[in-house]
Order: sequence, then C-alpha cells, then structure tokens
Amino acid sequence: MKDILKPLAVALALAFAGSAQAAGPAGNEPIQPIKAAKASDPALVELGKKLFFEPRLSRSGFISCNSCHNLSMGGTDNLKSSIGHNWQKGPINAPTVLNASFNVAQFWDGRANTLKDQAGGPIANPGEMAFTHELAVEVLSSIPAYKAEFRQVFKSERLTIEEVTKAIAAFEETLVTPNSRFDQWLLGKKDALNKDELAGYQLFKTSGCTACHNGPAVGGNSFQKMGVVAPYKASSPAEGRVAVTGKDADRFSFKVPTLRNVELTYPYFHDGEAATLTQAVDTMGRLQLGRTFSSTENAQIVSFLKTLTGEQPKLTLPILPPSTDATPRPQPF
Ligand code: HEC
Ligand code: HEC
Repeated sequence: MKDILKPLAVALALAFAGSAQAAGPAGNEPIQPIKAAKASDPALVELGKKLFFEPRLSRSGFISCNSCHNLSMGGTDNLKSSIGHNWQKGPINAPTVLNASFNVAQFWDGRANTLKDQAGGPIANPGEMAFTHELAVEVLSSIPAYKAEFRQVFKSERLTIEEVTKAIAAFEETLVTPNSRFDQWLLGKKDALNKDELAGYQLFKTSGCTACHNGPAVGGNSFQKMGVVAPYKASSPAEGRVAVTGKDADRFSFKVPTLRNVELTYPYFHDGEAATLTQAVDTMGRLQLGRTFSSTENAQIVSFLKTLTGEQPKLTLPILPPSTDATPRPQPF
C-alpha cells in the first residue's frame, strides 16, 4: 500500500494538512458532515434566485444560469459539455453549483477566486450566455420591479454588474445539501448505511481516495493532477491549473470535484467522458492510485458514493417581472 501511494506523496501531504481538524462526533473521519446554509440576508438571496433563473441575462433571452446548472437535476446539465448561445458546443463539463461555496476557488482550473467573481463570467462569455455586462444591466434597469427590488436590497440607486453578481453569489451560498445518509452515519446513526455502503467507505479510505476527496464537500479543496500513476487521455484540450499559474507542474491539475450528490452529476471528469460512476471509480483507481478494483469492490464504492446525495434545496420557482417597452429585445438567432 505504501508503495502504491509513493507517487502521491506530495498530494497526500497537502490533502492531509488540509483535513487535520477532522475530529467530530464520528471520530477522526476524513469527511465531515456538511452544514446547512444560513441565509444571512434573505432579501438578497431572493433577488439572487431571480437572477439565477433570469434568461434575459443572455443575448438570446433563453439561457439562464439554471439552463446549465439545472437545480432540478443536481445543479448540472448532465451533458458531456454544455450547450451555449446558438447551440455552441462548450469546451468543458459543467460542474454542479451545489455546495460550490465550499470550493477553494471556482472553475476546474480555479481561475475565479469567489462565487461573486465567477458569476460575471458566463453572462459575458460568447460561448455561454453571449451577452455583455452593460446590456445585462440595461435589461434589468428597464424593468421597474427589478429597479425597486435592487433599491430595496442594496439601499442605493446603483444597479451595476457588481450588485448582480453579489446577489447571485448570495443565492448560490444557500445551495448546500445537508443530511445525506452518509452524514447521518457520521453523526452517529449507525444503521444509516448498509454493509456494502460501509465496505465501500472503508475501501474509499484505505485505497487512498480520501487523500484528495476529503473535508465536508468530499473534494473541492485542492488542485490535483489528473493521471498521477498513469496518464489520462482527455478528449478536450483543457490543461487545467497551468492556465492560471503558468507553472509547468500544474499542467493537467484540476480542482478535485466535490463528490457530494455525485449520483446526480453525471457524466464525470472535466471532459465528461465517464458516463457512469462505475467507469469514473475504475479510472480513478487505476490512474490516481494504481489500483484495479474488482467488480464487487467497484460496486461497493459506487454504493458508498450514492449515500452522499443530500437534501436538495427546496425552491419555489421565482416569478420574474415582465419586460417593458424600453427593455432591449432578445436576439435568439
Ligand atoms: C452555457 C452553460 C452555462 C451557463 C449558462 C452558466 N454556466 Fe456556470 N459553468 C458552466 C461550465 C461549462 C463551467 C465550467 C467552466 C470551467 O471550469 O472552465 C461552469 C462553472 C460554474 C461554476 C464553478 C463551479 C465549480 O465547481 O468550479 C459556478 C459557480 C457557476 N458555473 C455558476 C454559474 C452562474 C451563476 C451562471 C449564471 C450567471 C452560470 N454558471 C451560467 C456552464 C454554464
Ligand atoms: C490524487 C488525487 C485523487 C485521488 C487519489 C482520487 N481522486 Fe477522484 N478526482 C481527482 C481529480 C483531480 C478529479 C477530476 C479529474 C478530471 O476531471 O480530469 C477527480 C474526479 C473524480 C470523480 C468524478 C467527479 C466529477 O464530478 O466529475 C469521481 C467519482 C472520483 N474522482 C472518485 C474517486 C475515487 C472513488 C477515488 C479512489 C479510488 C479517487 N477519486 C481518488 C483527484 C483524485
């Protein structure tokens, strides 16, 4: 086991340093229960929810954040790569927005430091919502009900992309999924997991998955190389973290995805090439740990991973105020 893990020495040291405070009611586990979100400013969150579902932040008037981060389906689009403006093929798989507030940074390569920094990106990305920040603000400012709501929430007449992204980020911070069966088990409910699920968790720990997938989000807290023991043949040109740091050592390092709700967030990996959890677990075992799981072991790990599905955010669909005569018209084609 030590030998298998040798190539991981650096990754392990990093990951364990990050999870040293792991003690909890269930003892010294590398994964901690995820805590329910507290909405500090309900009016700001409610505005952010409207904007998350607002298709008029896109040039077509058709694509909202929820188009690609569908909150009815685990906060993803369940596609290999997303469909953007004009049915453009996206370059990379859309990660879930659920529990994204736990991420060390946003995007596969971590190029946005915060949810607020991230939220402006897709609106102006020509391959996604294909709008401009100016036009997005113009649309919102042309709608009196929005103007009034921004004024009430921010206590100011200012309505810029700053306020827009701040509200969206506040909403995203509430998208946390507590009370999974695994969390119930961590918190002491010993019959919350069956024998196979427990065996899967043991394998997950003893084979070394927790070196990278740990903490409350079971990931999201470090960047690691994809293909530690053997190279990964990606179907996309993305090179990961090197795009941000410029360091050669970061080539093909990606943010370790959260495994919370992973049952819902297929397909897997940054290029979306693993269609099933069975496939993803097999690839991880071989490429990250040099370990080939038997089909029984693989199935046990998969059954453990499915216990990480938490309570999904319960949302009332927001009703958005109508456009006015002054609202810039959508340009879908
Ligand atoms: C056309 C599809 C599409 C739309 C629309 C879209 N996103 Fe995304 N989103 C993606 C993709 C693809 C990524 C991954 C990009 C990358 O890592 O380079 C992503 C990444 C993210 C992340 C980072 C998650 C993580 O784990 O790193 C967050 C948060 C997010 N989007 C929120 C939003 C918000 C808020 C909006 C609306 C303002 C939005 N997205 C609109 C496709 C989309
Ligand atoms: C060296 C760090 C490391 C180890 C060890 C590791 N992983 Fe991963 N895991 C990653 C990274 C990085 C990714 C994203 C890779 C990519 O998309 O190219 C990932 C992705 C995944 C995914 C896909 C999630 C998604 O949303 O796309 C699953 C499932 C997964 N790992 C499970 C496991 C299991 C099970 C083990 C143990 C057998 C394991 N991992 C071991 C770093 C690691």
